[in-house]
Amino acid sequence: MRKLSIAIDGPAGAGKSSVSKILAARLGYAYLDTGAMYRAVTYEVLSKGIFDEMEIVLMTNKIDMEVKPDKDAMLVFVDGEDVTPFLRTADVSAHVSWVSAMAGVRRAMVKIQRKQAEKGGIVLDGRDIGTTVLPNADVKIFLTASAHTRAIRRCMELAAAGQDVTPEGIEEDIKKRDYQDSHRAVSPLRQADDAVLLDNGDLTLEETADAIISICREKFPGF
Ligand code: DC
Repeated sequence: MRKLSIAIDGPAGAGKSSVSKILAARLGYAYLDTGAMYRAVTYEVLSKGIFDEMEIVLMTNKIDMEVKPDKDAMLVFVDGEDVTPFLRTADVSAHVSWVSAMAGVRRAMVKIQRKQAEKGGIVLDGRDIGTTVLPNADVKIFLTASAHTRAIRRCMELAAAGQDVTPEGIEEDIKKRDYQDSHRAVSPLRQADDAVLLDNGDLTLEETADAIISICREKFPGF
C-alpha cells in the first residue's frame, strides 16, 4: 500500500499535535508540526530584533531552516542551531500569530512543507494543510471541539505546568484566537471542502487516532 499524506487542520487546543504524533508513531510515518516552523521564524525575529515586515520576509528567505520530522517529535534547526527548546516560550507564543499572518513568511514555509511531504508517509498538522499546503492530500481531517472543551483541556495542561489560570479566561483567549486565525487575509483557518469534520469533544486522544485510521481505511480499503 502506498504511503499516504494525512492533513490534520483545526483550531488551537483541538489536540492536533498530540493526535498527529500518535498517528505517526502507529503508522510508522513522519510527523510534521507546521506550527513549530512558524514559531521558529518568530523566535528568529525576536532574537534578531527585526520588526519590519519586509525585513522579516527577507530574513525568512535567507535562513536555512531544517526540520527533522520523527515518529514522535520534531526538531527544528535554523542555520545549524537546534531552536526546538525555545519555540514554546510565552514571548514566541505572543508574537507567532503576527508573524504567521505575513504572506511572504507563509510562502517560504509552505515551500519547505511541500518538499517534506512529497514522498508521502507523513502526518502534517497545521491550519492550512488541506486548503493550501497539500490541496491533494490523501486524507484531510478538520479536528475540532467546542471552545469550552478546548479551554478546559488547555487549562488542565497549564495548571499542571504550575500556571495560575482559569477556564473562563482561557476560553476568552481561545475564542479570540479562533476569530483571528479564521479571519486573517492569507490562508485563514478553514475546513477544506473535502476534509472530514471530526469533533473529538467526547473522545480521548487514542480514540481520536482510531477514528482517523478508520477514515483512512474507508477511503483506502486495504490501508
Ligand atoms: O499549532 P501552534 O499553536 O504551534 O501554531 C502556532 C501559530 O502558527 C498559530 O498562531 C497558528 C500559526 N500556524 C499557521 O498559521 N499555519 C500553520 N500551518 C500552522 C500554524
